Amino acid sequence: MIKILFVCLGNICRSPMAEFIMKDLVEKRGLSDQFQIASAATSSEEHGNPVDRRARQKLSQKGISADGKHAVQMRRQDYAAYDYLIGMEQRNLSAMDRIAGGDPEGKIHRLLDFSSRPRDISDPWYTGDFDTAYEDIYEGCQCLLDDLIRRHISRSALHNI
Ligand code: 4NP
Repeated sequence: MIKILFVCLGNICRSPMAEFIMKDLVEKRGLSDQFQIASAATSSEEHGNPVDRRARQKLSQKGISADGKHAVQMRRQDYAAYDYLIGMEQRNLSAMDRIAGGDPEGKIHRLLDFSSRPRDISDPWYTGDFDTAYEDIYEGCQCLLDDLIRRHISRSALHNI
């Protein structure tokens, strides 16, 4: 089981989009039972709120539902509970490191550092650009999933031969 926590500032736009895009990708590849995927915020600003309406709209255009998700804040114990803690921008990584009390196991990464063009994902809550956010997050999730399959799944599959 590979456990992934996506993290952004508010947990109402980017990290829930990443959570539900990634769940959709692993489901389409028949790998749902090998993953546990969730998302959280570095701030308490939106605690308990549903996913932003514009983010839900964008996801639903792609046939993805984010119903039932409410914002939660990342806690220190999440560091031990997850294998990969994936932030959306550099600023998230500093806050995640602070919450976790450091990153001794190298679990904290920036999503688009898995792509061939490493960069931050701009916050659509401020830019209003949910199309770019979706495309960037989709690209990052695909690259992350390919990396994880190479790193974990093919290896365990090989053990089973
Ligand atoms: P997110 O966007 O980090 O992508 O969820 C934000 C949503 C809300 C706030 C900040 C960022 N806020 O400060 O309320």
